[in-house]
Amino acid sequence: MISMRCIGCGAEHPIDEIIYNCERCGDLLEARIEERALMEKIENGGWRLRPLSVWKYREFLPVFNEAKIVTLSEGGTPLYRCERLGKELSIKNLYVKNEGANPTGSFKDRGMTVGVSKALELGVKAVVCASTGNTSASLAAYAAKAGLSCIVLIPAGKVALGKLAQAMMYGATVVSVRGNFDAALRMAVEASKQIGLYLLNSINPFRIEGQKTAAFEICDQLGWRAPDRVVLPVGNGGNITAYWKGFKELKALGLIEKLPKMVGVQAAGASPIADAFAANSATIEPVKNPETIATAIRIGNPVNWKRALNALKESNGTALTVTDDEIIKAQKLLARKEGIFVEPASAASIAGLKKLVENGEVELEETIVCVATGHGLKDPEVAVKACEEIIEIESPEALEKVAKP
Ligand code: F0G
Repeated sequence: MISMRCIGCGAEHPIDEIIYNCERCGDLLEARIEERALMEKIENGGWRLRPLSVWKYREFLPVFNEAKIVTLSEGGTPLYRCERLGKELSIKNLYVKNEGANPTGSFKDRGMTVGVSKALELGVKAVVCASTGNTSASLAAYAAKAGLSCIVLIPAGKVALGKLAQAMMYGATVVSVRGNFDAALRMAVEASKQIGLYLLNSINPFRIEGQKTAAFEICDQLGWRAPDRVVLPVGNGGNITAYWKGFKELKALGLIEKLPKMVGVQAAGASPIADAFAANSATIEPVKNPETIATAIRIGNPVNWKRALNALKESNGTALTVTDDEIIKAQKLLARKEGIFVEPASAASIAGLKKLVENGEVELEETIVCVATGHGLKDPEVAVKACEEIIEIESPEALEKVAKP
């Protein structure tokens, strides 16, 4: 009834085995709940009355032992209607899904509450991940709550200060890898095999399961209808994969009528998925030395590229790149028009939408949701540098001068 299916050859694997790749062809695995069984479970509609949260949709999630659920109250994040920003971009029905409102300040908590609950169910004692920052902050918190030991591997010198502080404070063993995220991930995968640590990067199918609940919430918040378009920043490609899986599951169950177009936005210096999409290529060309101010998505060899490309194509969506300058401008615009402070990677979705509008690639009447993936306080250094200098004064007269409109 519930299994893990290979995304390449379709081979089925037992759900309670600790594996991340197909034993037949090596491709990634995804959780699959049989539709009829799920339909029976949700038929009476009682779940609809639960408050908004990841676990509102627990029937859709492959965790069986409710006593093992590790939760910090994730999900249930606001979907803001953004009229002032919408006006600026000429979009009438613009929303921002603020995932920075999750317990550790990013969407990763959706995946970790499910992934770490599964880890307890599987009886593991220690967990590991590689991270550009948010995954490590989130895993460290959930491992602490679960009483598991936790090692996080981060690219040396390239993780925003807030995220680093979180992983350290939650008590994870923080290991700095000389090299970029891609090198750190290779090490984490190796460690999971050699040392037997349970891997909680987005190649873990349970992470994707948790993250798909953001798509459920958006439809729920819009009165059980999908938006016309969802715009997401893309790094490793796990989140866009999760959203697309979520929307498709709702459609298959008849809970929504139509699917949205998915838009993936990458930073210009780290854009293998957007480049492959533009070239209409079936594979990606990894970027050797990815570089961007949006360190969260500073990834050159995304593991979920195949599923991310599939989401873009299948949804009739698109991918594009934005420069660091465009990212920072969008970060300030969102903060100053809507009072929503996001980290640079998250602002890529706003910058991407702005570009699409300028290129005439969206209908101005569309209902559009931009996903703000992480909180602005994660990266205070970039924020302070991006803003006007602080004014220093000594006298009330000087203040009067400053205060003049
Ligand atoms: N936005 C933020 C704030 C992120 O932290 C990430 C990924 C993404 C977008 C992209 O999501 O990788 O699923 O395509 N951060 C990972 C990490 C890589 O380690 O925290 P993706």
